[in-house]
Amino acid sequence: MIQISPSVLSADFADLGRAVSEAEAAGAERIHLDVMDGHFVPNITFGPVLVRSLRARTGLILEAHLMIEEPRHYLGPFREAGADIILVHREVCEDLRDICAEIRGLGAKAGVTVRPGTPLASIEEDLDALDLLLVMTVEPGFGGQSLIPETLEKVAEAARIRARRGLAFLIEVDGGISPETAPEAARAGADILVAGHAVFRSPLGVAGAVAALRAAGEAGASRRAG
Ligand code: DX5
Ligand code: ZN
Repeated sequence: MIQISPSVLSADFADLGRAVSEAEAAGAERIHLDVMDGHFVPNITFGPVLVRSLRARTGLILEAHLMIEEPRHYLGPFREAGADIILVHREVCEDLRDICAEIRGLGAKAGVTVRPGTPLASIEEDLDALDLLLVMTVEPGFGGQSLIPETLEKVAEAARIRARRGLAFLIEVDGGISPETAPEAARAGADILVAGHAVFRSPLGVAGAVAALRAAGEAGASRRAG
């Protein structure tokens, strides 16, 4: 079952409550919240205050994708604001097992994210410690970019390792996901599709866009090897 996680980064920031309600009505399973600090990435978005406000508007799983340099300092505030999953970047975490344990200790699910240039080998031995692996399929920082095809090989590799070692983490892809790219991402092994532009800027509207992404993802998943 493919899950859809609309990223509100591409929605109207003056009307985010409505964006979340529309995504929920469209049948999305999750809401993806892109937190940017202007250092780890060149863009700046929002912090825990906004997560708290959106928490009051939806029962969907809220995932906080922390594109920030010192994630450890903010785990508590994002959890207290209502994030169900906290995703940190591999590139700014030395001891991944430790930080994943800390996130779980707060009662959230632990996710780890890798940029396109970060090899899976840098996280391979810690894959048993996390609930979610987020493979960036574009360079983080901005919505509306084109998927980098080589990143899907990382998705496939993660899926192979998961099967070989009997692990249970979910695989999520983020960046440039659309009804055109979703089949390949799902075929490679992605369980969760993050999409910003393809949901909130789609001519199909939010409901049509979520349905199109799900159909495309399911079609790809049905062609998975093995
Ligand atoms: C980019 C963010 C993404 C972004 C995806 O740094 O992590 O979640 O919202 O946007 P699209 O789907 O438009 O590529
Ligand atoms: Zn993201």
